Amino acid sequence: MSLFRKKNIDDILKNSEAENPHGSLAKHLGVRDLTAFGIAAIIGAGIFSTIGKASADGGPGVIFLFIFTALACSFAAFAYAEFASLIPVSGSAYTYSYVAFGELFAWIIGWALIMEYAIGNVTVAISWSDYFTSLVENVSDYKVVEWLRLDYFTARHNHEQVMALLISGVPLEKISANPQTAGYMEGFLAIGSAPKIFGTPIVFDFPALIINVLITMLVYRGIKESRNASNAMVIVKIVVVLLVIFVGAFYIDVKNWDPFMPNGVKGLLKGISAVFFAYIGFDAISTTAEECRNPQKDLPRGILYSIIICTVLYVAIALVITGMVSYTELNVGDPLAFVFEKVKSLHWLSGIIAVSAVVAMASVMLVFQLGQPRIWMSMSRDGLLPPAFARIHPKFKTPSFSTIITGLLVAVPIFFVDINMVTDICSAGTLFAFCLVCGGVLKLRMDPNAPPSKFKTPFINSKYIIGSLFVLSFVLLLIYNKPVLDYYMKWESFEAFLTKIPVYLFVLGFALFAVLAFKHNFSLIPSLGLLCCFYMLSQLGYKNWLYFSAWLVIGLIIYFVYGRSHSKLAPLKQ
Ligand code: ALA
Repeated sequence: MSLFRKKNIDDILKNSEAENPHGSLAKHLGVRDLTAFGIAAIIGAGIFSTIGKASADGGPGVIFLFIFTALACSFAAFAYAEFASLIPVSGSAYTYSYVAFGELFAWIIGWALIMEYAIGNVTVAISWSDYFTSLVENVSDYKVVEWLRLDYFTARHNHEQVMALLISGVPLEKISANPQTAGYMEGFLAIGSAPKIFGTPIVFDFPALIINVLITMLVYRGIKESRNASNAMVIVKIVVVLLVIFVGAFYIDVKNWDPFMPNGVKGLLKGISAVFFAYIGFDAISTTAEECRNPQKDLPRGILYSIIICTVLYVAIALVITGMVSYTELNVGDPLAFVFEKVKSLHWLSGIIAVSAVVAMASVMLVFQLGQPRIWMSMSRDGLLPPAFARIHPKFKTPSFSTIITGLLVAVPIFFVDINMVTDICSAGTLFAFCLVCGGVLKLRMDPNAPPSKFKTPFINSKYIIGSLFVLSFVLLLIYNKPVLDYYMKWESFEAFLTKIPVYLFVLGFALFAVLAFKHNFSLIPSLGLLCCFYMLSQLGYKNWLYFSAWLVIGLIIYFVYGRSHSKLAPLKQ
């Protein structure tokens, strides 16, 4: 069927450059730049913000979650590195899926990656704005008005909550004094003070919008400018993270590490989406493949180096902050600045951390905003998107049209969406992409005619290992955590059943995969990558699965209406 027509690697390499009528990209990146891009994309809102809640839920043991997630990401990173070295073009996971699984899957993954890059950037832009506005207020007398710092729906929801409390007789002073309801006041004031057009209050996150416009302009301007800006921002954030670790280490009180895992595995797993979000980004490096001087050697190294560096930094930071204060106090949006505010002589450091959080998040946005247009450019070259998406700016040598559309796509949700929802959806889309890339390597290696890659993942036969892991997981659960097994075996209600579906799908997939691994002697590293990412996906909650499925259905409609008939690939060559 033409839905599964595949691409030939030699054709891809030829078409990506020489035969591209829209021009080619400028090659300026080496291994150091790529590692810096990786760190630029990885260290951001996750470590400066969401680690707080994950540490409060999991206690100091959150480091185990960081290590598990790092392992899962490294397994997936090997798959990315292998593909990136085999097919060094800008499409990243999209192009890899085209080669391994065919056009339909490629489209699906290209569509899912919008969740990672564009929607991920909505999350980062909103967090950036939170840090930026509090920074402005801390260092000056200027106060950003409420209606210019919130999205419309959050403001309206908060306004409704306050109105309900007022109607039930709670006075406004009490609402703003109570820590549980004080958070609603911002939205209440925003709606109350906002200018109105035809009676509708105008409320939007102005700083988030501005940072999006600035980053879009920079990325439009050129890869060299983006690289220089990214390298500078990476230096700032690494210096600050090291400062936190080395200064903070002197203030650790080991009593805070006891108990190490106060809420057990259940507490740890609550932080899975936040911790995974902290690692997202290393894969974005592969979208710059056509701008690398020596992509086949440098891309795999850049990807792996950046993960290793970030893991060491993350584990050290988690140990420091959970050692400096009790984990119970860490449920805050700015945990790194918070722990230093607690030490009188270190107040100066907390200000520096706030500034570097703003820089760190801007650099994440920069790399994501670079990645999205380059994927669209590849999809357009294949005919799956209109030709304008492949247009390269004659002077700046960047995918100009795609870059502007990316900026618009990030800007529109900034007006409406709630940050928690976009964080989870971003993680879901990314995990889905990681699963397909790991699966793609396994599939490619089943083909005896597949060309060798310059970077090869070390081969360990998983024939018996995956099945043994499946049995071992059940045995361990039976011995150490039987209530979890009982919970999933019990019928409570249809609503409860719905929430369990992702885990049932994971168990089913794991069993099926064990059989396939036995039959085809799968390589262990990509197999573990696929299973770990699928496991994390199963922990994200069924609502995110529903949102994600709805997104995929919209994508499929577009594919069948436009992409399929415009695809440049000849009818299926099996
Ligand atoms: N890993 C990136 C961050 O934490 C997405 O902001």
